[in-house]
Amino acid sequence: MAKIIGGLTTSHIPAVGNAIENNLQQEPYWKRFFDGYEPAKEWLKEANPDMIVVVYNDHGLNFFLDKMPTFALGCADIYHNADEGWGLKPQAPFPGDAQFSWHVAESLIDQEFDICTCQEMLVDHGFVNPIRALYGTLKEWPVKTLPVAVNVVQHPVPTAARCLKLGRALGKAIESYPEDMRVVIFGTGGLSHQLQGERAGLINVDFDIECMEKIATEPEWFTQFSNAEIMRKAGTEGIETIMWMVMRGALQDEVKVIHKHYHAPISNTGAGVLVLENQ
Ligand code: DHB
Ligand code: FE
Repeated sequence: MAKIIGGLTTSHIPAVGNAIENNLQQEPYWKRFFDGYEPAKEWLKEANPDMIVVVYNDHGLNFFLDKMPTFALGCADIYHNADEGWGLKPQAPFPGDAQFSWHVAESLIDQEFDICTCQEMLVDHGFVNPIRALYGTLKEWPVKTLPVAVNVVQHPVPTAARCLKLGRALGKAIESYPEDMRVVIFGTGGLSHQLQGERAGLINVDFDIECMEKIATEPEWFTQFSNAEIMRKAGTEGIETIMWMVMRGALQDEVKVIHKHYHAPISNTGAGVLVLENQ
């Protein structure tokens, strides 16, 4: 049977792709931020997953305002990255596992999560940068991937409570897959940031740190906030933190906190890395 080893959440800032491309990891601006990934990299090596389920938000690359699924699941054997600006080269394509995806789709729909299934899916920095930060830049990726996209671009956006429930259903879907497979769930995005308007540049360190603490130990705490409250506290793009709820829901209620790291600001964001392990 497939087994969920644990989960890892991280911000997915586009400037990280540029920093990796230009080897800036040891520069004073970037060093502490990249150092925060080292224990996560060690854990991931030990966890040795066959499959990474990446819960992230597309930023307008694969879905645009004309057609915006609330929840979308990749159902392909390959996922391509595409140009997002910055002059960066697209990354090598990421292997998928369509058979596993269709199992997850069937199980989610049985559990009343009527997700959009995508037999083609371009993946953006929300998916790519966390993988690059953790695995490096490779020509062939050593792990299969399953993208799960959650809409935070076009309102209405799903609630934190709904995302926690999606995570629980996703956990059941994965662990009912009959083949042996070691699975790690990523949740990417957040923490606080706002890229536009009068409050552009907003970062809420206290709220970010509390979120990291509570999402590990008491995830229901985060579901007390409406999306308007999350955006008031964490900025309009801070709503990406609902990806962390999906990851958390897919894990057991009691988890071991393996690693926690916070650094602000990096680019415009309060950046967190959290690694949780199933018992
Ligand atoms: C930044 C962060 C994001 O999550 C994003 O999607 C775009 C930009 C930033 O911090 O600059
Ligand atoms: Fe983002």
